[in-house]
Amino acid sequence: MGEPVQLGAIQETLLIPLFGRAEDARGPHSVLADRRAVELVEAIDYDFARFRGPSLAGSVLRASIFDQYVRDFLTAHPDGTVVDLGCGLSTRFDRLDNGTAHWFDLDVPDTMALRRRFFRDGERYTMLDGSLFDSDWHDVVTARGGPIFLLSEAVLLYFPEEQVHAVLRDWVRRFPDSPVAFDTGGPAMMKTQDRNPVFRAVSARMKWTCAKPAELASLGLTLVDSRTFGTPQPAVAARWPARQRRLLRLFRWAPPVATYKLNLFRT
Ligand SMILES: C[S@@+](CC[C@H](N)C(=O)[O-])C[C@H]1O[C@@H](n2cnc3c(N)ncnc32)[C@H](O)[C@@H]1O
Repeated sequence: MGEPVQLGAIQETLLIPLFGRAEDARGPHSVLADRRAVELVEAIDYDFARFRGPSLAGSVLRASIFDQYVRDFLTAHPDGTVVDLGCGLSTRFDRLDNGTAHWFDLDVPDTMALRRRFFRDGERYTMLDGSLFDSDWHDVVTARGGPIFLLSEAVLLYFPEEQVHAVLRDWVRRFPDSPVAFDTGGPAMMKTQDRNPVFRAVSARMKWTCAKPAELASLGLTLVDSRTFGTPQPAVAARWPARQRRLLRLFRWAPPVATYKLNLFRT
């Protein structure tokens, strides 16, 4: 019998990208080669087979685009600090650790209780229990000084616009001149959630619609880079299966591809 899961509605969605990465690792042309995700899926008592459809592969492509943003940051700042807000069971630290960076993974207590069954803090790796909407973690991650990269992958989308805008304003004030990466979805994506087979398997729904990430400039965020699955960074695309890459490029103007954006901002 594996580890049972007791997670709130949004928290349960972390199992989708986990399963996506495990399926990717089991396949012949793995993008992330995340063997740890396979171990976690095997260790957790959950009916992962209910997650089917293109969003599974999408979560792998998304992770690889965000990996590249973090990789670029760590190339420029090898001993910088990365903060993954709403980390779920992400294995990004294992994938990108360069031996000198400091890393914080933050998530809400029920998710962190599950995470702590499989992960341990280390000299440069710290798990934090809390909400990204609170400010308790701010002083903890700034204590070392130096550049900080804030990342929040597939989390802000689940919250109402006012709440998201308020927290983004907070980050702009508290983390000046810092890179911040998160994803945004336009109306086409939001309206089709109920038809998405992966989302039919969970109760959480995305709430925040943002068609034009550049407009977040009004909150103090300057858009530095924005990608879709049809326009990944060339170094990232090179690791995607050729057929999938060609197909996504061909359909890059189609609303489901064009309206989901993986963005890098600067405060
Ligand atoms: C779709 S999962 C994404 C997990 C991870 N970022 C990934 O890509 O694998 C959504 C995550 O948001 C987390 N979450 C929900 N509410 C949160 C909050 N207030 N603060 C931080 N994380 C939160 C959940 O626990 C869950 O891990």
